Amino acid sequence: MSLEVRTLEASDYSGWLRATRLGFLRSATVSDEEIELRRPYTDLARAQGAFDDGRCVATFRSMPRDVTVPGGAVLPSSAITQVTVSATHRRRGVASRMMANELAATAERGEPLAILIAAEFPIYGRFGFGAAAGVTEWHVDTARAGLRPPADDEDGRVELVDPADVFKSGPELHERVRLQAPGSINRNDRWWELFTGKVQVPGGDPWKEPIFAFYRDSAGRIDGLAAYTVDDKWRGMYPESPLEVKQLIAATPAAERALWRFLLSIDWVTTVRTGFRAHDDVMPLLLGDRRAARIDNSSDFLWLRFIDVPRALAARTYAAPGAVVLDVVDPYGYAAGRFRVEAAPDGTATAEAAPSVAPDLTLTAADLATLYLGDESAVRLATVGQATESHPGAAARVDALFRTSRKPWAIDGF
Ligand SMILES: CC(C)(COP(=O)(O)OP(=O)(O)OC[C@H]1O[C@@H](n2cnc3c(N)ncnc32)[C@H](O)[C@@H]1OP(=O)(O)O)[C@@H](O)C(=O)NCCC(=O)NCCS
Repeated sequence: MSLEVRTLEASDYSGWLRATRLGFLRSATVSDEEIELRRPYTDLARAQGAFDDGRCVATFRSMPRDVTVPGGAVLPSSAITQVTVSATHRRRGVASRMMANELAATAERGEPLAILIAAEFPIYGRFGFGAAAGVTEWHVDTARAGLRPPADDEDGRVELVDPADVFKSGPELHERVRLQAPGSINRNDRWWELFTGKVQVPGGDPWKEPIFAFYRDSAGRIDGLAAYTVDDKWRGMYPESPLEVKQLIAATPAAERALWRFLLSIDWVTTVRTGFRAHDDVMPLLLGDRRAARIDNSSDFLWLRFIDVPRALAARTYAAPGAVVLDVVDPYGYAAGRFRVEAAPDGTATAEAAPSVAPDLTLTAADLATLYLGDESAVRLATVGQATESHPGAAARVDALFRTSRKPWAIDGF
């Protein structure tokens, strides 16, 4: 049986969307309204399908997104999504063919990185992706939290606002926040339409209107946004309402603290579930009793693959001045080679191919991806034999440069 893997044409779209649904184990029925709402946001030139006797049995697409890297620069990236292979056609190399096409196209377009959110951990390492920004979810027992008192700079106010306010003012706030959060990407209007319920796509997850709150500083500037839902639950005459944080982003430490303090002290709410936060989110530090914040889940989230290593290494900043040479192994070739990074005292760096210089550390492109945004340490990789030191202390030297004071945080999935 021959399977045709190719870029989509307009007439393929409804069958392709149907295949995506089936690939994610959802019912296959796709309405005209859904097609109309989704189609403008799918760039057919960046979408692939596999066709068996004319029927779409596998899907794959990418979108241009900017990823923030340590130091606040952004790099154009190919954000891969809707990767599915029908259960009837799995493990025949179909996803591998589509990935090979995509990586070649990414290189052709000049995007230095590809990124994705992996449904399952073992899928993408073989394609040179590494887990680059993880997430942790906590649940907080508010009765035990013992919130510490506010600091002097929390002199703004939290106000409850309407979805329309969020649609209007959220994007500007998010732009400020995501540039401070390595691992985060830009959002489009559609993201905000879906978040605020302005557009509801049939066939997607049903939208439940969250409660929205802004934090405004003393001058009235919006520095933070929280969105949350609460289940109105009672045990006898006692309220036991769980609150779920859908979003909490803040451009300043005062806004971040004030919004957590607000969410953790709402009457009737006995449990706060935080949603996906950075591994080193500050929330637990605000509690007098940190054991009140228990981890529900701590895992990989954003995966990253280098296409242009020198460009990526030169885009981020470094924690210390100095030079290291990395020998990068990549069976696909895109990221393979020896690269010298030289960081200046101000943290900026140059990076170039250095094929004839002795390396300090040898590692795969996937493992370098885990170091790139500050999620992993070279010493840990060397300890488990995933990075090879050419001389004692080489991994620690790499860490001295690559270390970041905060962990990366991919605010959004896609
Ligand atoms: C994940 C998925 C896209 C893989 O498609 P596929 O066509 O079966 O993948 P391939 O045949 O190209 O697999 C290539 C290799 O990856 C391995 N692999 C693929 N999916 C895997 C998984 N979920 N877990 C472990 N290994 C996996 C295969 O065993 C194969 O290994 P091999 O070369 O050593 O034999 C497909 O199984 C699927 O649609 N799953 C459900 C939806 C999903 O999870 N999509 C990913 C969203 S991020």
